[in-house]
Amino acid sequence: MAADMTPLIVPDTVIPAGPEATSWTDVDPTIDLWAEIDRLRKEKNAVILAHYYQDPEIQDLADFVGDSLDLSRKAAATEADMIVFCGVRFMAEVAKILSPTKTVVLPDLDAGCSLEESCPPDDFAKFVAQHPDHIVVTYINSSARVKALSDVIVTSSNAEHIVRNLPADRPILFAPDKHLGSYIQRQTGRDMIFWDGACIVHDMFSERELVKLKARHPDAPVAAHPECHEGILKHADHVGSTRSILDYVVEHPADTVIVATEQHIFHQMQKSAPGKTFLAAPGADGTCNCANCPYMELNTLEKLYLSMVNEAPRVEINEDLRLQALKPLEKMLEMSPPAKANQETKSQNGKGKAAA
Ligand code: 13P
Ligand code: SF4
Repeated sequence: MAADMTPLIVPDTVIPAGPEATSWTDVDPTIDLWAEIDRLRKEKNAVILAHYYQDPEIQDLADFVGDSLDLSRKAAATEADMIVFCGVRFMAEVAKILSPTKTVVLPDLDAGCSLEESCPPDDFAKFVAQHPDHIVVTYINSSARVKALSDVIVTSSNAEHIVRNLPADRPILFAPDKHLGSYIQRQTGRDMIFWDGACIVHDMFSERELVKLKARHPDAPVAAHPECHEGILKHADHVGSTRSILDYVVEHPADTVIVATEQHIFHQMQKSAPGKTFLAAPGADGTCNCANCPYMELNTLEKLYLSMVNEAPRVEINEDLRLQALKPLEKMLEMSPPAKANQETKSQNGKGKAAA
């Protein structure tokens, strides 16, 4: 077994490699990976779900591309036997929690998230115990154990709506993203305390460079993800989830839009509004090379293919933990505003028939 497919035990989530697992470097570079992945998708009745931050070639062959809420809903409703999750580990875990009888694979099990890593479950349990009167509202970018300690899960697309609908007389403990939490506090005026976590990608945008970019493009609106710090959000004309940013830039009459989120979303923007110009919000050095999620980019076409061949790396969750994490996730789905029709992006290029 090659080194990069060695079975790993990550806290609370066992992700074994399959018996025939081989390294992606062993994949024959001459095979047509698109055709092979498509064959496996049909043969194994698999659905390929991809986040907007995935590499464009993965987005194009996925059955569905969406934000974390869209993808959770899709995973909960699918009739496929196998969910191939092209995103990061917490997203694949959510798919397994919501659809325990399905095989859930993740092309690279090291695809973590800085927000999840900022919030170790044992430390979080102590923080929660110190604030017994608070409602625990946890961002979906967290581990299954942290979710299990929470009252309700939120994503960037439903956080404000859910917080507004929580009992007004109770304070809120929000984790792990302090920027999203503070944004929700500014929007709702709720009494909130925060875990000190941040996304390494969205934390890198520079207010100073953004102000300079806006001065050069005074008619361009700014669309930003709420994981950005306040210095960016205060200049934004639209703040929302990846999908809402996509909808905004496509629907807005401006022909140039400044975008403050991970750069792979530009792929769908260019496909949906080919005549428009999308400018990346800059990092401190005046470029946007920082806006690349190093976890998302671990997933490649070769690893995606291997994960379908081997049905591994696979997400498995202890049943007690799954049931504990399921409760606040179900609460989120129950409290979320209804999905608009066609809210996720169905791949137009993918050759496979969606099993979901
Ligand atoms: P969305 O919920 O907007 O897809 O965001 C997920 C994420 O990880 C952003 O960094
Ligand atoms: Fe996590 Fe940030 Fe990557 Fe999203 S962009 S998966 S929050 S590290």
